[in-house]
Amino acid sequence: MTPAFDAPTVIRTKRDGGVLSDDAIDWVIDGYTHGRVHDAQMSALLMAIFLRGMTGAEISRWTSAMIASGARFDFGDLRRDGKPLRLVDKHSTGGVGDKITIPLVPVVMACGGAVPQAAGRGLGHTGGTLDKLESIAGFTAELSGDRIRGQLQDIGAAIFAAGDLAPADRKIYALRDVTGTTESLPLIASSVMSKKLAEGADALVLDTKVGRGAFLKTLPESYELARTMVALGEAHGVATRALLTDMNVPLGLAIGNAVEVAESIDVLAGGGPEDVVELTLALAREMLDAAGIDGRDPADTLADGSAMDCFRALVAAQGGDLSQPLPEGAHSETVVAPRGGTMGDIDAMAVGLAVWRLGAGRSAPGAQVQFGAGLRMHRRPGDPVAAGDTLFTLYTDTPERFGPALAELDGGWSVGDDAPEIHPLIIDRIES
Ligand code: URA
Repeated sequence: MTPAFDAPTVIRTKRDGGVLSDDAIDWVIDGYTHGRVHDAQMSALLMAIFLRGMTGAEISRWTSAMIASGARFDFGDLRRDGKPLRLVDKHSTGGVGDKITIPLVPVVMACGGAVPQAAGRGLGHTGGTLDKLESIAGFTAELSGDRIRGQLQDIGAAIFAAGDLAPADRKIYALRDVTGTTESLPLIASSVMSKKLAEGADALVLDTKVGRGAFLKTLPESYELARTMVALGEAHGVATRALLTDMNVPLGLAIGNAVEVAESIDVLAGGGPEDVVELTLALAREMLDAAGIDGRDPADTLADGSAMDCFRALVAAQGGDLSQPLPEGAHSETVVAPRGGTMGDIDAMAVGLAVWRLGAGRSAPGAQVQFGAGLRMHRRPGDPVAAGDTLFTLYTDTPERFGPALAELDGGWSVGDDAPEIHPLIIDRIES
């Protein structure tokens, strides 16, 4: 039987600025999931989408086709104290130093929410929650549906590789990572929402990043992304809202894999950088509100150690051993201040690319990341600096990476006489 579609025609339609029909989208997503459409063909189609965009109707169908490529969880029968579990999640559109999931999930657990979090690996210059958490000895994100269900019931959270959920996204995500097709509104919206709508949460909060270190750099694009994702969520019956947050400067002081886990543990211990704490608490409040949970103040869970207890329970449930030291790159290099003054702007993209060059991300699908690769910032924009102060420490297991990493960082920071402009972290909030 002749297939109804063929990949070259679908690619040419989009390449030439046409609109893909629902059937063409269903065919190409199903074909790619099952290996009938090849990586080279999907790469070409992704690049055509990147360049030509998609209509709202195409984004919606592409998302539905990715959801239909796999399983869809339903945890609606789970109960705590005789009442249905309040299942709520958040997802970020990708940033530099964005470790927020790691402290956030335990905070929400401690406040009475249940979080079924399908998380991702690094994408382009941004880090991935799974790559970070897997730097904890023994930690596994490959959880079966039954294990996720059991963890939600027993401790109130699971952080897992999407696995059987939206497998089309898993393949496309890995391809986008290495084909220069990450920074595309339709591809980000459908990637985020296919996983999130398949994972069985009742409510969802989207952290939509804006600025140099985000995939979408401008406010108008980011508003459109946030509104597109909120509309997709609501259309699928999930109470969805978004925060727009600044991603011009890295979040926190640690960027990489294990270094971000260490910083998250500082936050859970009641310390940590102010911006990480602020965003964690803002997202926690949104999640609790979206899920209709009216109880504890999330800040109390950081102060009294209950969020840390939840984190320990979550890590232990997923095989992690926090008594083992977190890995740190075998080699380090510092950047020192050439003069005194005030720390100027720090470009999140320059830092993200430097960390990627150090080995924290991938340049080939499925490549192993270095858990110990990363960077610590010793100053935030606006901090006083003396000549010779250490501004950055870089870590890697492969010292030949320092040259390229330092070249990425070069020009991405400054020390001057004047205080730089400091952007507010939380820019806006979008609800349907
Ligand atoms: N997170 C995702 O899951 N997908 C993207 O495309 C970007 C961030």
